[in-house]
Amino acid sequence: MSIPVIIDCDPGHDDAIALLLAVASPELEVLGVTTVAGNTTLDKTTRNALTVLELAGRPDIPVAAGAAAPLARELVIAEYIHGESGLDGPVLPEPSGSPVHQSAPSFMAELIRSSQKPVTLIPTGPLTNIAQLLRDHPDVIERVRAITFMGGAAEIGNITPSAEFNIYVDPEAADEVVNCGLPVTMIGLEVTHQALFGDREADLLRGRNQSSQFVAELLDFFVARHPRTYATPGAPVHDVVAVAHVIDPTLVTTERCGVKIDTGDGLGRGRTVVDRWHVTDWDENLDVGFGLDRDAFARLLFERLETLP
Ligand code: RIB
Ligand code: CA
Repeated sequence: MSIPVIIDCDPGHDDAIALLLAVASPELEVLGVTTVAGNTTLDKTTRNALTVLELAGRPDIPVAAGAAAPLARELVIAEYIHGESGLDGPVLPEPSGSPVHQSAPSFMAELIRSSQKPVTLIPTGPLTNIAQLLRDHPDVIERVRAITFMGGAAEIGNITPSAEFNIYVDPEAADEVVNCGLPVTMIGLEVTHQALFGDREADLLRGRNQSSQFVAELLDFFVARHPRTYATPGAPVHDVVAVAHVIDPTLVTTERCGVKIDTGDGLGRGRTVVDRWHVTDWDENLDVGFGLDRDAFARLLFERLETLP
């Protein structure tokens, strides 16, 4: 039986690949996609989500635009990684479709209330929309099966030495989500930095079907942006790991930890403080990812891309 999911994203190269994996996987029923500002501005993340779904042959999946800015801070974007369009690299058509007229939180609430089964939320951008959903529609809590988000890190950062981008952009939203009381899994940098894709993977995908070719061109740009930014060989396809974990929970090994968010404005802004060794009496509120079966993950992605147009 498929798991009903809503993907809340900020495409973004890795978000785009995550969307492709989700719609190509029979284990998931993608009820809808919601967008948030993060990798780029909301108008662009929304346009990009529509474009990717059309490329995947799924223009039927509704898209709702959400927050153009964090709950309480100025927006920070990542054009240095994703380029001006948010999906630089491939030449992409403008989408023919448009987002629904509802805001992301009310759209998510409607989908959750009308779903026959509890819904899993998969946020792969700043958590602003999820926090707003829980604020505006607290009744849906009992109909949410779980939240599996890409974000945070136990020991490292990527936008600062302390913080991972999604959490850094909206620490207040992250604080509300990690303390919402639902089953929440954190797919952080310790896991996603094991999901490095480089020229080898791009070349394996190039020239196959349209979707694989699209991913190859995304990787060409994404990988080229990383050596100048990170020491890693290749680029971490962060968001794809979050979707893959919902599809197959054996891919990522997790540990139950107490996690708090630094919502200050100092060096620790946006840090996910993870008590991995249980040195505090904090509530153990998250399942935190640490290990990845990288080969099985890559196999899953490549196999599912083959099933798309
Ligand atoms: O830090 C990586 C995360 O920030 C990914 O979700 C990427 O798409 C950006 O949103
Ligand atoms: Ca993202």
